[in-house]
Amino acid sequence: MSPDSVLEAVDLTKRFGNLTAVDHVSFTVKAGRLVGFVGPNGAGKTTTLKMILGLLSPDEGVVFRFGREADSRDLETLARIGYVPDVPSFPEWMRPLEFLEYIGGFFSRDAETVKKRAREMMEEFGLERLAGRKVEGFSRGEKQRLGMAQAMMGEPELLVLDEPTSGLDPLGRYEVITYMERMKGKAALIVSTHLLEDVERICDDVLMIDRGRKILDAPLSEIKSFREGDTLTVEVAEGVDRLAAALAGMPWVKAISPRGNALEIMVSDKKAAGREIPAAVARFGLELLRFEGRPPSLEEVFISLTRGDQGEERNGMRGGAG
Ligand SMILES: Nc1ncnc2c1ncn2[C@@H]1O[C@H](COP(=O)(O)OP(=O)(O)OP(=O)(O)O)[C@@H](O)[C@H]1O
Ligand SMILES: [Mg+2]
Repeated sequence: MSPDSVLEAVDLTKRFGNLTAVDHVSFTVKAGRLVGFVGPNGAGKTTTLKMILGLLSPDEGVVFRFGREADSRDLETLARIGYVPDVPSFPEWMRPLEFLEYIGGFFSRDAETVKKRAREMMEEFGLERLAGRKVEGFSRGEKQRLGMAQAMMGEPELLVLDEPTSGLDPLGRYEVITYMERMKGKAALIVSTHLLEDVERICDDVLMIDRGRKILDAPLSEIKSFREGDTLTVEVAEGVDRLAAALAGMPWVKAISPRGNALEIMVSDKKAAGREIPAAVARFGLELLRFEGRPPSLEEVFISLTRGDQGEERNGMRGGAG
């Protein structure tokens, strides 16, 4: 494994009965990098993260943490990892500060150090106003905050976060995103999320899986070269519906989304599109206001890579999008 890798998964595979939830997935998390782990519901993200942490044992494959092959007895490397599960749960009778101090006890024997760190984490994750309450009855977002604080108690070198912003209000989400950004460089992070905008904003690398298989693994800056098509925007003064209907049948059109008087068109052949879209506008006698291309967003890459050849079960969910 490369010297700067904090985590390496090789051929990780997990089966549940007939279902292969994770299918020979390999990837590396390098020191100081923030990896966005994305994929549709049921893709195998949570299962993969649990194998990384040793909470599930793989049917095939190996995990190396900090250069050492993972072993359930190896508590020393586990102590260097902070983890927030998708649904964090806590001893319900404890108050947050008490809980954080309890967790801190695993990392330090010095009570003052533990107390100080726990208080800092209370402040960092906006838990002070909950200080007097028992965890029992905490809302989903409040539990998520406590989960983050708990994961940071041991000053981890690797943070594994399974949908850390789910259930958070916009401010909470902003705070967690900002916190992850601040963590960059201090620790490596692997973060599963469905919020592709956030991934585009803060991640260094993108790992994408679908139905257990890895389909993309690249620095965010290189994602453009993985695109299946370009997106062009054409805007006309009126008659956008007629134009959309005419373009929908063209062989190089992969998808069309109307946006007011404009159409966003994902195309497989940019040259043909560049010739034929203005020609169609002219044929209908429409007034062209705008015609431009831009690199695809991560969301577009995600949709084009995960749409593929999936069977009936997904089509029903797409509400006529396909
Ligand atoms: N303990 C289990 N027993 C049987 N099937 C399971 C088990 N855990 C997960 N699965 C199945 O494995 C697949 C992958 O699940 P996983 O939770 O890893 O997906 P995910 O990518 O985290 O999805 P989401 O985005 O919805 O959180 C799913 O089809 C799921 O139903
Ligand atoms: Mg999950």
